[in-house]
Order: sequence, then C-alpha cells, then structure tokens
Amino acid sequence: MAVKNAMTSDFLHSAYGGESMAHMRYLYWGQVAVKEGFPNIGTLFEATAYAESVHANNHFREIGGETADATVTAGAVFGNGKTVHNLQGAINGELHEVEQMYPVYLNTAKFQDESGAQRSFHYALEAEKIHAELFAQAQAAAKAGKDFEHSTVYVCPICGHTIVDEAPDKCPVCGAKKEMYKEF
Ligand code: FE2
Ligand code: FE2
Ligand code: FE2
Repeated sequence: MAVKNAMTSDFLHSAYGGESMAHMRYLYWGQVAVKEGFPNIGTLFEATAYAESVHANNHFREIGGETADATVTAGAVFGNGKTVHNLQGAINGELHEVEQMYPVYLNTAKFQDESGAQRSFHYALEAEKIHAELFAQAQAAAKAGKDFEHSTVYVCPICGHTIVDEAPDKCPVCGAKKEMYKEF
C-alpha cells in the first residue's frame, strides 16, 4: 500500500534522496580512508554506507504506489578532503538527521497516522544516532594519527542498526536475530 498523505510522501522522497547520497558518499570516503592508511575507518564507512542503503530501501518501499516520476532535492555534504575532514562531513550529516530531519519526519508521520513511514523513519533515526557517535570516535582517533580501534562492524539488514565488535543476540531496534546481521 502506498503512503496516503502528501507531506509524509514528500518526506519519504527527501529521506530516500538523502540516504542514497549518504550511501555513495560513504563508499567514496571509505576508499579515501583506506588509501590514507586507516583500514578500520574504511570499514566503518563501508558498513555505514550499507546501513544507509537499508534506510533508502525502507523509505523507497514505503513510498509504494504506482511507478511515477519525482524530483528530489536532498541536502548532502559534498567534497573530497582528508579523512579527518570527511569524517566531519559525516558527523554533520548524521547530526542533522538526528536533531532536525528525522524527528520532524517521524512526528509528521505520527500526526498523519502513517504507520509504515513511522517505522521507516524510526529505524533510520535510531541508527543515525549511533553513526554520529562512531564517526566521532573515528575522527578522534584519526586526529591523533591513529586508526579506529574496532576492525569489525555489524549492520542489521532490516533497520540499519550498527554495532562494533559483535552483533547482539537480538537487534535492539527491530528485533532481528543475530545471524541476520551483516559483517564488515
Ligand atoms: Fe540513514
Ligand atoms: Fe547514518
Ligand atoms: Fe534491526
């Protein structure tokens, strides 16, 4: 079933655009990090890129309906600097989503009684909080000339929940089982 209300539909489109661009940006910045000698930061970017693709796919599915053209304007961090700088771009993007975008989108979906969009925005919001924190840790390490201390990252393929070192028995956000987590 397609989303019913225009405002929630607009927000799903916009979030789809933003997540899609974040996905591509993180893949690129991950390659830059590896070249700079930070393989673990590269892995963090790669895993987070996957989480953003999960969010994009969830939003896309919730838009639903007939195939139709749409133009989306999505804010994004552009640029290709050193890893410390790229991580600041990532942190800024995640914090924008955590503090501005997803709380507004989520509350609109609640107000308009759009249960599918609510779930999709909720999943993204919870993951972005973790992304902001992990990127901040990675940036602190990079500023000291060190790599991110965690070499393995796990991502829930249902909601994008992201965690270092080991997957939980059950996803704390969507309840998916440990075996479902994708390892990076
Ligand atoms: Fe996301
Ligand atoms: Fe994110
Ligand atoms: Fe999950």
